[in-house]
Amino acid sequence: MRHFVCFLFALLAYGCGAVLVAAQQPPTARQEGIQQQEERNMTTEQRASATRAFLGLGAVPDRIAAARGVPLYTKNCAFCHGRNGRGATGPSLITSDVVLGDDHGERLVPFLKKGRPDKGMPAFARIPDPQLKNVAELLHQQIEDVANRGAYRVLNILVGNPAKGKAYVEGHCTSCHKPDTFDHIASKFRSPELLQRGWVWPSGSARMTAEIRSSGGLISGELTQISDFRITLVDASGRMHAIVRGPGVEVQIKDQLAAHEEIVKTLANDDMHNVTAYLETLK
Ligand code: HEC
Ligand code: HEC
Repeated sequence: MRHFVCFLFALLAYGCGAVLVAAQQPPTARQEGIQQQEERNMTTEQRASATRAFLGLGAVPDRIAAARGVPLYTKNCAFCHGRNGRGATGPSLITSDVVLGDDHGERLVPFLKKGRPDKGMPAFARIPDPQLKNVAELLHQQIEDVANRGAYRVLNILVGNPAKGKAYVEGHCTSCHKPDTFDHIASKFRSPELLQRGWVWPSGSARMTAEIRSSGGLISGELTQISDFRITLVDASGRMHAIVRGPGVEVQIKDQLAAHEEIVKTLANDDMHNVTAYLETLK
């Protein structure tokens, strides 16, 4: 609960200085001077960890794991909880006690495996633990981004080597992309964080389609929802179909971004950092 209250604090009083001051007795002018002095003397890193300690944010999210969790989240969770976890037909995960009470998936993973099917939250029993852990890191990172603005973003994201990133892009990405895909790419995103998320899992026009074969025949269309038990899609005429998965139902998913997902799964941490550092130079 403390997490949650503090979290609300953070939302109400943007920025760590304001939060720190608001939570204390009104300081004297001299004390205030000293505090400002101390804050000025802090490195970005110290300021970030002071803020996170104050907000009770728990363990530092693993940003690489979080980036790896994006494809899975986008496919399995986003239609109910929103692209950034802020809620849609399902509740916001940014203010969820289940998420706030977890550090690195030890509570979230068992929760996700079971779901709450009676309340509309599907079970994800078939997704392996390491992948669900990545989703847990992603949710923690979203909270961190709202609560602990700015501080960690620059610190943990832009640590790569742009020259190596350039070589990686030329070696691994230009098989599908013309170099001009990347022209001014950094100026399309508000932060290096969003840039990283954007290239790892582009939202753009890419959509998933599915073909489903069953005793009822063949249905194909754009996928709107998929879980272990159910698939919904919209066919070419705009009609929605909800199909229960089971024996005799053959599902084939075509994913324009399958290549990206593969890249994300196999990309070394250093390569991910290097590519983001390189793309960030393309303003
Ligand atoms: C079909 C819609 C749907 C999908 C898909 C879905 N959820 Fe949910 N989720 C819900 C609903 C509805 C609830 C609220 C259940 C309740 O009232 O207890 C919920 C609850 C949750 C909660 C608990 C919130 C709280 O504090 O009570 C978490 C965490 C969560 N979902 C995460 C996920 C993740 C991660 C995924 C993807 C792997 C996912 N959900 C996919 C609908 C969905
Ligand atoms: C096997 C083919 C393939 C490879 C390899 C590949 N991509 Fe992509 N990429 C795609 C497809 C398909 C899309 C979706 C195009 C769309 O949305 O219209 C895409 C979209 C993107 C986008 C969004 C472009 C836009 O205009 O919105 C970015 C950025 C991107 N990829 C970066 C990369 C980077 C960086 C690499 C290398 C690390 C890479 N891609 C490797 C196929 C690939």
